[in-house]
Amino acid sequence: MTVVSFASVKGAPGVTTLTCLVGASWPEGRRVMVAECDPSGGDLAARFCLSGRRGWSTFATASRRAGSAAPIEAHLQQLPGGLDVLVGSAEVDGSGPTSPVDQLLDGIPSPSEGGWDVLADLGRMVPGHAGGDRWLERSDVVAVLVRGDASSVFHVRGLADRLRSRCGARAVLVVVEGGLHGPREIEAFTGLPVAGTVPFDPAAASVASGCQGSARRLSRSALAASARSLAASLSNGSGLSEPAVTGVAGRARSRRIRAMLAARTKGVAGDVPRGDPPAPPAPPAPEAPTATPGHVPSFGAGDAISGPHPSSTVSGGGVLR
Ligand SMILES: Nc1ncnc2c1ncn2[C@@H]1O[C@H](COP(=O)(O)OP(=O)(O)OP(=O)(O)O)[C@@H](O)[C@H]1O
Ligand SMILES: [Mg+2]
Repeated sequence: MTVVSFASVKGAPGVTTLTCLVGASWPEGRRVMVAECDPSGGDLAARFCLSGRRGWSTFATASRRAGSAAPIEAHLQQLPGGLDVLVGSAEVDGSGPTSPVDQLLDGIPSPSEGGWDVLADLGRMVPGHAGGDRWLERSDVVAVLVRGDASSVFHVRGLADRLRSRCGARAVLVVVEGGLHGPREIEAFTGLPVAGTVPFDPAAASVASGCQGSARRLSRSALAASARSLAASLSNGSGLSEPAVTGVAGRARSRRIRAMLAARTKGVAGDVPRGDPPAPPAPPAPEAPTATPGHVPSFGAGDAISGPHPSSTVSGGGVLR
């Protein structure tokens, strides 16, 4: 079983979208589920017209009644195309024997008995907030979505200590392209390795998050290609890059993504991209960055981190370029 948690920092759009696209691109022959774990509320049931009643809440109730983890299958629903999802918006963290996270992960059968890989959508990470810690501890990889603008990069640096203390080298960044700062700068500034990039692509993302649009165009988009590359690297449980799968297998995954989105809901209106356009270039800051309003980080001389972090094993953008 491989467990990958996805989270975002303020300013980075698309952690739910990316989690689902990566799930839809997961290697053939491996069962994978997306577990919604965003404490501020899940979106999948509304976006894809699923039942809001079946998911984490029914799994927790069934497990409580049984006195041990209930079989998960009865609590999963499927996105168009077949990706299994465990929906729910409740706070599913917590520790001890009744932690739903532990119940889920400990109750999953071994790979030889048809086990699952689990992709957890943790939603937005906030400095000082303990939510999601159990996932951070139990994940093989924790992928944090960051946008390459000053504020988003500052936010992720504010989280870097917590990520390193909880996850060590298992924490990686995924950079939403189009910002002022590229993957190498962000690695150097935060000390966290960049496992890949995704394009800022409101049109493709809008289709992937349940709005009307061409599923075929989505499956051919750079966003879907990024998800495939990330799935290839994350599914080995380390976040290290592997060559993207092309040829017959790659086309099969494209078809799965297209199928997943072809029958998306018609009833969800008003879900427009909320990401802002990339920040315009700003003058470099004179000294080490501090979180003062309007201050743009400088990644060069004077910064506390002046080169790639020793734990960095993936060069910036290396997975995708
Ligand atoms: N790579 C992207 N480029 C541009 N827009 C995107 C991208 N990914 C997602 N979006 C858009 O951003 C909006 C939010 O997407 P999504 O729900 O995946 O983000 P989120 O980080 O999970 O948000 P929330 O904090 O509400 O859970 C959607 O309208 C989606 O189309
Ligand atoms: Mg979300």
